[in-house]
Amino acid sequence: MTTRLLEDRYGRVASDLRVSLTDRCNLRCSYCMPPEGLDWLPDDSVLTDDEVVRLIGIGVRQLGIREVRFTGGEPLVRRGLVDIVRRTREVGPEVEISLTTNALGLTRTARGLAEAGLDRVNVSLDTVRAETFAAITRRDRLGDVVDGLAAAHEAGLGPVKVNAVLLRGLNHDQGPELLRWCLARGYQLRFIEQMPLDAQHGWSRETMITADEILAGLEREFDLAPATEPRGSAPAELFLVDGGPATVGVIGSVTRPFCGDCDRVRLTADGQVRNCLFAREESDLRGALRAGASDDEIAERWVVAMRGKAAGHGIDDPTFLQPDRPMSAIGG
Ligand code: 5AD
Ligand code: SF4
Repeated sequence: MTTRLLEDRYGRVASDLRVSLTDRCNLRCSYCMPPEGLDWLPDDSVLTDDEVVRLIGIGVRQLGIREVRFTGGEPLVRRGLVDIVRRTREVGPEVEISLTTNALGLTRTARGLAEAGLDRVNVSLDTVRAETFAAITRRDRLGDVVDGLAAAHEAGLGPVKVNAVLLRGLNHDQGPELLRWCLARGYQLRFIEQMPLDAQHGWSRETMITADEILAGLEREFDLAPATEPRGSAPAELFLVDGGPATVGVIGSVTRPFCGDCDRVRLTADGQVRNCLFAREESDLRGALRAGASDDEIAERWVVAMRGKAAGHGIDDPTFLQPDRPMSAIGG
C-alpha cells in the first residue's frame, strides 16, 4: 500500500472529503430544488454502505484524508447513516467526522450519531420565523429543526454551526434576528452567499445578497471586528460580535472566493469524484469498484481526478457554465 496526497497542479492538497449519501431531501429549499423535487438517482446507482465505507477507507489510509463530512441531499434520510459513521470512525480514529443536515429527525438520531463517533453538525437554517421558513423550504417544519438543533447540542455534537442563506424578498433583512437567536443558544452562525447551484437555474448575480450586504445588515445592530485567528482553508471570514468571544462567519463564495486555499474533494452518492463544487467533469469510482479494481487502482484514479482541479470557480467569467448536477446531487 502506498500513501500519497491528493495534490493538484496549483499545489493545493485535498484532505477534507465531503461525502454525499443521497440526493433526496425532505425539504424543498427554493435556492436548491423546485417544489416537485428532482429525478432522484436510481437506487442501484447509489453506493451501498459497504462501497461508501471502502472509498472513505482508501481516502483515509492511502490519500491523506483527515476530515470527513457527510452531506446530501439530506443525509439523515439515508437509512445506514449511523452505521456508516461508526465504520468511518473505525477506519479513522483521528478523523474529524461531521454532518451537514437540515436537522429534521435529528431529535431521534443525535445521541446515536454521537455514540457512533460523529464529532459535530452543521445545520442549515435560514430564518427563525415559521412563515418565512415555510416560504423558503416549502414545508412547515421550523419547530422540528429547532428541536433537532437542541438535540444535537445536548448530545455533544458541538460546536453546533448554523448555515444560513439570505434571499432577497424572503429573509434578506433577518440576519440580525437570526444571529441574536443563535447567540442566545450558543450556536455558531455562518452566512453563505447564494451560489449558482440550484436545479432551476434561478440564481442571478443581480439579486443575490452579497457578503458586503450581509455585513452591513449585521452592523446595523451589532459591532463586528475581524477575528484575529487566521482563516486558513476555512471559507468563513469570522467576526467577533460585540467584542466577542462569540463570532459570526460570512462565506463569500461568489464575491470573496477562497479557491486558492481550497482543501476539499467531493464524492457524490453515485460514486463520482468531483474536485470542485463547480467542476464540469467527474471521475467514476463506482464503475471501478464494481469492476473489481484494487484499493491501489482506485487510489490512483482518485489522484488523477484531483490533478485536473481548476484554479477557481470562474463564476465571474463570461464563459461560466453552471455544473450539470445541482447542489443536492453534489453535496455541500
Ligand atoms: N447557495 C449557497 N448555499 C446553498 N446551500 C444549498 N444550496 C445552496 C446555494 N445554491 C446550502 C444549504 C446547506 C449547505 C449544504 O449549502 O443551505 O447549508
Ligand atoms: Fe434539502 Fe438542503 Fe436542498 Fe434544502 S438546501 S432542499 S435542506 S438538500
